[in-house]
Amino acid sequence: MPSKRDGFNIKDFYYYTIECSSTGIVAINNDEDLVIFNEAAENIFGVSAREVLYRPFSVLQNMTGNTDSLLLSTLHSGSVYEHVEAVIESASGPINVMAYTDLVRNSEGQVIGACLSLRDITPQKQLEEQMYQTEKFSAIGELAAGIAHEVRNPLTSVQGFLQLFAQNTGPEDPKKAYLEIMQKEIDRANAIVKQFLLLAKPVLPIKKGTAMDKLIEEVVCLLQVEAGRYGVEIQTNYAKGLPLVAIDREQIKQVLLNICKNGIYAMPNGGLLSIETEYEAVQNKVHVIISDTGQGIDPFTLEKIFDPFFTTRADGTGLGLTVSYKIVQNHEGKIEVRSEVGKGTTFRVILPLT
Ligand SMILES: Nc1ncnc2c1ncn2[C@@H]1O[C@H](COP(=O)(O)OP(=O)(O)O)[C@@H](O)[C@H]1O
Ligand SMILES: [Mg+2]
Repeated sequence: MPSKRDGFNIKDFYYYTIECSSTGIVAINNDEDLVIFNEAAENIFGVSAREVLYRPFSVLQNMTGNTDSLLLSTLHSGSVYEHVEAVIESASGPINVMAYTDLVRNSEGQVIGACLSLRDITPQKQLEEQMYQTEKFSAIGELAAGIAHEVRNPLTSVQGFLQLFAQNTGPEDPKKAYLEIMQKEIDRANAIVKQFLLLAKPVLPIKKGTAMDKLIEEVVCLLQVEAGRYGVEIQTNYAKGLPLVAIDREQIKQVLLNICKNGIYAMPNGGLLSIETEYEAVQNKVHVIISDTGQGIDPFTLEKIFDPFFTTRADGTGLGLTVSYKIVQNHEGKIEVRSEVGKGTTFRVILPLT
């Protein structure tokens, strides 16, 4: 390999090309010691090169997903891999990557190690997921709109007659209790229909500049009774000097209420519900982060929580998160969830400021 040409150090250039590459590059020698761990690899794994360089590759063991077997198989059997999807368990959570491996040979053609290249494909994954959800919603939505309309009219007339009966029934009449139950059930059915119509024919947000912390205070106020009943403490922490956010107040309030209530219900033995705001300057977005210290959600369930009618609660409708997702989507925002069974769940509602 030429190392200098007209005073230009090509070895340096090789070094910086690898160091500055947006592809995570991890190389090991024949002893399986880490010899290259570039900056993109540091970002993907969430560990610094200083911590791992010249140490056995196995120090990354718990983080590599299945990429360790790819790299070792390349080193020992010479088979190279292309375009393999994998999940890196980074210090800050799972990261979807596309993995490639290569053998590293010297100028005599001898194998001196193997190299693993990783491209972070989290954004593509998220987009795919979003498109999938959108399609699912529009199909279900059309069906729902039809049914909900049909159901609403008979409900309204039953409700009317029920009220009439209730008025004509004295307080001591044993039928009174039944009428009340019927009334409650009708209210519940109405609430479901209403939510479903919102889902099927989402009302476009009427956006107004809103102080997010004021809105959260209103939400907290509405939650106090429920929180008290579950022995849940609510804590808030607001980003200083957060600009106004262009949102439909009532709709976003509904979203925050839904998520917070879920959090409270996940802590039947009490706990902490925390609501925070963060300003993200690069994309000019506000994050509202709602965390609970509840039971958590296992990965299998987590995939379904936004699905219409998916609920694990006996008196749940399974529509709260579906509607919330739709509302946030109509605001060009998104909802992210992280959860750990036994520890708790964090929802992050991300909204553009304008
Ligand atoms: N903070 C949370 N902790 C644990 N599970 C949750 C949490 N939020 C949502 N879930 C799960 O997601 C499901 C769907 O939530 P949602 O759409 O609001 O419907 P519902 O509250 O009527 O069940 C819940 O039944 C529950 O299993
Ligand atoms: Mg709910």
